[in-house]
Amino acid sequence: MSNSWPDYLLEDIQARIDIVDVISDYVVLTRKGKNYLGLCPFHSEKTPSFTVTPDKQMFYCFGCQTGGNAFTFLQKKENISFVEAVRVLATKAGVHLPEKELSPAEKALHKERELAEQINKAAQEFFHSTLLTSPKAQAARDYLSNRGIARDAIDAFQLGFALDGWSNLGDFLLARGYTVEQLDKVGLVTPKDNVQCYDRFRNRIIFPIFNVHGHVIGFGGRVLDDSLPKYLNSPETAYFSKGHNLYGINHAHKAMRDKGEALVVEGYMDVIACHSNGFPNAVASLGTALTREQGKLMMRYTSNVLLAYDADAAGINATHRGAELLRDLGCKVKVLSVSGGKDPDEFLRHHKPEDFASLVESAPSWVQFKLASLVKTTPLSGIDAKVKIVSEMANDILKTESLVEREGYIRLIANTLGVTEHVISAEIMRISAKNRKKGYFSDNSHSDSHTNMEHYQTEFANIGKENTLDVLRVKPGSSVNKIYRAENLLLRLMLLDPKVIVLVAEELQWESFTDTMHDRVLCLIKEAWQKGNWNPLNWAAAVNDEALGSYLAQISMEETGIGDVLKGAADCIQVIKGQQIKEKIKSLQEEARVLQNSGDMEKALEILLEINRLVKQPASGKNRSIKPSGKG
Ligand code: UTP
Ligand code: MN
Repeated sequence: MSNSWPDYLLEDIQARIDIVDVISDYVVLTRKGKNYLGLCPFHSEKTPSFTVTPDKQMFYCFGCQTGGNAFTFLQKKENISFVEAVRVLATKAGVHLPEKELSPAEKALHKERELAEQINKAAQEFFHSTLLTSPKAQAARDYLSNRGIARDAIDAFQLGFALDGWSNLGDFLLARGYTVEQLDKVGLVTPKDNVQCYDRFRNRIIFPIFNVHGHVIGFGGRVLDDSLPKYLNSPETAYFSKGHNLYGINHAHKAMRDKGEALVVEGYMDVIACHSNGFPNAVASLGTALTREQGKLMMRYTSNVLLAYDADAAGINATHRGAELLRDLGCKVKVLSVSGGKDPDEFLRHHKPEDFASLVESAPSWVQFKLASLVKTTPLSGIDAKVKIVSEMANDILKTESLVEREGYIRLIANTLGVTEHVISAEIMRISAKNRKKGYFSDNSHSDSHTNMEHYQTEFANIGKENTLDVLRVKPGSSVNKIYRAENLLLRLMLLDPKVIVLVAEELQWESFTDTMHDRVLCLIKEAWQKGNWNPLNWAAAVNDEALGSYLAQISMEETGIGDVLKGAADCIQVIKGQQIKEKIKSLQEEARVLQNSGDMEKALEILLEINRLVKQPASGKNRSIKPSGKG
């Protein structure tokens, strides 16, 4: 049965899945350079020797010498046949597989596909030899040479020419025995009747589109002048889908792997110009918006992507969308802006390759690029504009895995907007909490900061203009008490200023808070503080507990409105201390009552004296002003 599946089906499946994904369902894999390492599922081991190579789409265990590709992995792991493994992976890849026994119709479909491959190959060779040899192709040869495309590039990309005329290719292929219907199916002709047809491509330079395995799957054809449409492409068929392919991938995949970076450009000409000038890792998304499938295809070779789209509005737009898509797939994205040229091809025609190389070298990360373009398009006149930019950037920061990088971005945004890093961190955590509440962390929808604000208007939201003790005063009918308010405000102040942490450590000795959630945050701050780390965003990242993480975000979300942070903190501490004394008194009274009942008057008296002492001690701590220590 396995033999009845044509090779392209298996190639298709392999092109659409990633062995790392497949194996990750069974083995915990950790990245190690270019490879992934894990504990071998085929023999018992304590140190990982099981290696997965995304480059080669292979796995190998150095311990038990088991190895193979995604199909063999599943076969062994699930103890299934090759046929079954192909079936499982085809489903995963979204590739339609014929049922067990091929129906005559399915057999016909497979034949058709093989036929399409043959026809495309014949057409490609016809176009190519026409370009090289036909006297009528002089204009095309001149055109290419004027655009700086050398013979080497013509050969490497197998460029061709479709002569002006209605059926040059059609006649050639019909003479070879193909039918009008067959040629129509591939999209090379439009039928006139059963025996005659019109060529799709006429008087156009031909760019054959190869898949990663080197099969011609479609064509693009460019006019020699300014007439429209500039490019005509093969129609989408069962054999050719632009969105599943990248122009140039047949050459570029090796370079992408070697350089550890893919260079993504918009057009055919850009790919050829890049390859001709020493940038062989260039591919083009064929004028469409970059798709997930294209991203996945690249990621078989590298997850570092440099987007070098045209310098016009459409290109910048495509950059934003492409970068987000790639980032969500797990790529590291940088952006190259071809200042001084409308696209890489034009840039390379007017500058030296070294100039392009330095653009590659200095390309900013996507986050940096996005911030810069936001700043460019948003007048930084007021707070509103800054809030808008921060909320636009929040998801991008949150999706940055490396904490070091995150901190760098926060610093960058803070410096760019002229606000403190803390404000940025807090805002980002607030948006993170909102994302979690909504349950769609990966959604990129831009947040409207004003509705978010409303969403988080708690009892504490408008404490701004009042003084601390007013803030802590319990409003009639409020469900929270003064202690709760004091704990809450104090935590918020601790998140704002490390000096408050010092103060709390000294004055309250990290004594438990009455509210469970407050206490958990307090413990978290204590833990981080004792490890010498006070950046709230880092704590948020370290919190695995969703409820706690959200709460942390929530309480760090807004300005406290307290002008004198240390004075505010001291006020809170007094309230909390007062409560702690009250509680102590209460429990001592209970103890004294028990002792009195049991007749132990002596001990009971001792306790009553202690209570007396505590009652006299001013709970508000007026006799002792709390001075923040100089530390921190
Ligand atoms: P561009 O208009 O940027 O063309 O379209 P280009 O590649 O720079 O070509 P030159 O330099 O003008 O010769 C970018 C890509 O969008 C697709 C093609 O894949 C093209 O390479 N496109 C563009 C079309 O498919 N059809 C069109 O009419 C235009
Ligand atoms: Mn161009």
